[in-house]
Amino acid sequence: MTARPKILTVFGTRPEAIKLFPLVHALQADERFESRVCVSAQHRGMLDQVLDIAGVSPDHDLDLMTPGQTLDELTARALTGIGKVLDEEQPDWVVVQGDTTTVMAGAIAAYYRKIPVCHVEAGLRSGNIHHPWPEEVNRRVVGTFAALHCAPTETSAAALLKENVDPASVHVTGNTVIDALKWVTARIEEEPSLASGLADLETRFAGKRIIGMTSHRRENFGDGMENIANAVKEIAQRDDIAVIFPVHLNPNVRAVMNEQLAGLDNVALIEPLDYPHFARLLDISHLMLTDSGGVQEEAPALGKPVLVMRETTERPEGVEAGTAKLVGTDADTIVRETLRLLDNDDAYAAMARAHNPFGDGHSSQRICDLLAKA
Ligand code: UD1
Ligand code: UDP
Repeated sequence: MTARPKILTVFGTRPEAIKLFPLVHALQADERFESRVCVSAQHRGMLDQVLDIAGVSPDHDLDLMTPGQTLDELTARALTGIGKVLDEEQPDWVVVQGDTTTVMAGAIAAYYRKIPVCHVEAGLRSGNIHHPWPEEVNRRVVGTFAALHCAPTETSAAALLKENVDPASVHVTGNTVIDALKWVTARIEEEPSLASGLADLETRFAGKRIIGMTSHRRENFGDGMENIANAVKEIAQRDDIAVIFPVHLNPNVRAVMNEQLAGLDNVALIEPLDYPHFARLLDISHLMLTDSGGVQEEAPALGKPVLVMRETTERPEGVEAGTAKLVGTDADTIVRETLRLLDNDDAYAAMARAHNPFGDGHSSQRICDLLAKA
């Protein structure tokens, strides 16, 4: 019997963990593979929240995060740290997901050792190297040498083919975020207490429409974040709404949001939610205001209108389907578009339609099958 291929899955931040835990579950349950997990812990607390709920115990934990880390020091430590793990494990494949520093460094470390890379969520392109920054370049780098490109949609597959990537290596698998969302929804159904921690806020804001919010993008630091905070302050003058805002742990985000929004009666600035509680927040929200990538994929699946506080998006599918709208970071535009959804029932109904351009919840299994054949 030939040895089973060893697959090393590498990740480091909250969104990578959410989008890879279903694949880790699938690889671990699949006798065709030997599965190993390495976390860079580029995020510490927000990564651990996902590992806990998903029951994933990494074989290697590089514990890299430092407060206020810079891109170059993080990249250097991730590259050398992951490189050492590759030397020790000598995997047949390295799997990475998305576009963070961990993804770029992990993929390059594999390339330096001629280990093939499987890129999950391949082919997302905004076409602008500064939006999102530095993610657009991170994913383009991985796209130049990955051996297996798991594109979530036909649009992302087409973007890779346009860059002359070998068509035989490009596969439309759907996005594993839908696998994760379905998994967590089923877990909450089995065990409602997993998502019951918002009950006090739900009581406090009873009768108001909830606006769920997240914001963390590096390219929005400075004026963009200030504008977003000012927009929320203005929206919060209405007494028929409440904003629930789990604030990202990045100190650049927290400083602005705490200074501008703390103390407003109908704005709850709360700690990052674990995934079941965030799923609950999506569920109780009338609409989402966000600059997050993952939330742009989850909200359409749940039929929640999402206003995207970015200038461009590499996820046009939600916009094309009508559930997402780009509103940029101009305060007046954010306020105007939010009020339109609150006050115009037709505008709201046109956006509040559930559909799934990003997947059917079986992406992880497709990726396992591709790895088995590769
Ligand atoms: C990173 C990714 C971004 C992704 C985002 C998801 C890069 C360059 N950026 O951005 O693509 O969209 O994660 O959230 O890879 N912090 C904590 N605890 C945590 C997490 C972060 O304290 O659990 C603080 C630390 O001070 C850390 C800082 O946030 O230094 C920034 O973290 P970092 O991963 O460098 O950047 P993000 O803005 O989180
Ligand atoms: N999320 C979460 N708790 C929160 C905020 C977000 O679990 O308090 C989840 C969300 O459901 C989505 C992912 O985190 O799956 C998005 O991560 P983030 O916005 O940090 O990164 P991005 O997707 O922009 O890279």
